[in-house]
Amino acid sequence: MDQKVSALLNEQINKELYSAYLYLDMANFYSSKGLDGFANWYEIQAKEEQDHAMLIYQYLHNNGEPVTLEAVAKPDKVFKTLSDPLTAALEHEKYVTSLINAIYAAAQDVHDYRTVQFLDWFVKEQGEEEKNSGDMITKMELFGSDAKGLYMLNSELKTRVYSAPSLEL
Ligand code: FEO
Repeated sequence: MDQKVSALLNEQINKELYSAYLYLDMANFYSSKGLDGFANWYEIQAKEEQDHAMLIYQYLHNNGEPVTLEAVAKPDKVFKTLSDPLTAALEHEKYVTSLINAIYAAAQDVHDYRTVQFLDWFVKEQGEEEKNSGDMITKMELFGSDAKGLYMLNSELKTRVYSAPSLEL
């Protein structure tokens, strides 16, 4: 594998684990506010990010590439209002999309179509993640401003269940 592509994939493992950590911090914030549904949503989001990291980890191993695990940064976003994690999540997913796109472009540059094909799943996943993040903001704006609406929204988010990623390596 091209060294630049391999290095970017290695870095992405770290970014996905950071994403998991960031979402766990969001779950932590909502838990402390008594919003167990919002906390549930972000706990599941954190699990999905760990899955993303593991998919890349496995892909590198399957291709005989070395994996180097670096320190995961501390989640340092400050949440004050109940909407803060929602806007931070959308902003973060847009950033992750830019990272995936950069690896995709690097793989295309060196005609590494196996990696391009592997990353197709991530490109689609990022579309879903950005949509979900945007929907959360919209719902909060529509229903979150009074106690009853917030209760209903929290109840809806509590029903989210984890499912393993659909990608097979
Ligand atoms: Fe792994 Fe939310 O991107």
